[in-house]
Amino acid sequence: MLAVFVSGTGRTLRNLIARCADGSLPARVGLVVASRECGAVEVARDAGVPVVVRAGDFRADELDAVLKGHGVGWVALAGYLRLLPIPEDYRGRIVNIHPALLPEFGGSGMHGLHVHRAVLASGAGRSGCSVHICDDRYDTGPIVVQRECAVLPGDTPESLAARVFALELEAYPEALRLLIESASAPQAAAGRGAGAAGGSR
Ligand code: GRF
Repeated sequence: MLAVFVSGTGRTLRNLIARCADGSLPARVGLVVASRECGAVEVARDAGVPVVVRAGDFRADELDAVLKGHGVGWVALAGYLRLLPIPEDYRGRIVNIHPALLPEFGGSGMHGLHVHRAVLASGAGRSGCSVHICDDRYDTGPIVVQRECAVLPGDTPESLAARVFALELEAYPEALRLLIESASAPQAAAGRGAGAAGGSR
């Protein structure tokens, strides 16, 4: 089961729920954790997904308890604006999407239009999105999937954001599907312990 962590409008959450429903992502969104009341909380409630709203930071043991308490196997950060400590049993199972080609244009404060402004200011000819495994810092873990697009003459942060977001809609479900399927392949299952996170979709 997949938990989605949010702070924003919920477009990414809505996409992941739809991809689970149409079978292209072999998972079920069973929990949404929000850092504040926001559009994404409404998306979750409309879809009948349980929501935890928590304004403060999690300690790793608290996060571990929330995730295991809801039977969560995988976590997708979808515009979540807080840094998460990674519980030991969830290493490799917490994933983020970033609207630029990491390792460039990542880090604290680099979210939303800030990212696209920085890309335009740099003069880069290409941008895109990156799905990566989370470690204990912002935007630095191993990259799973990247998709690229051109930066066009006359682009504004908003126009670039829209082009990148169209890529995100494909890249995030694809990366999650790759990770979930490879973790449930026979070879992976043989080497896996019996932890609560193991094998859950
Ligand atoms: C996406 O652009 C993603 O790159 C970033 O947060 C945005 C999603 O926010 N991490 P939302 O889906 O509109 O709430």
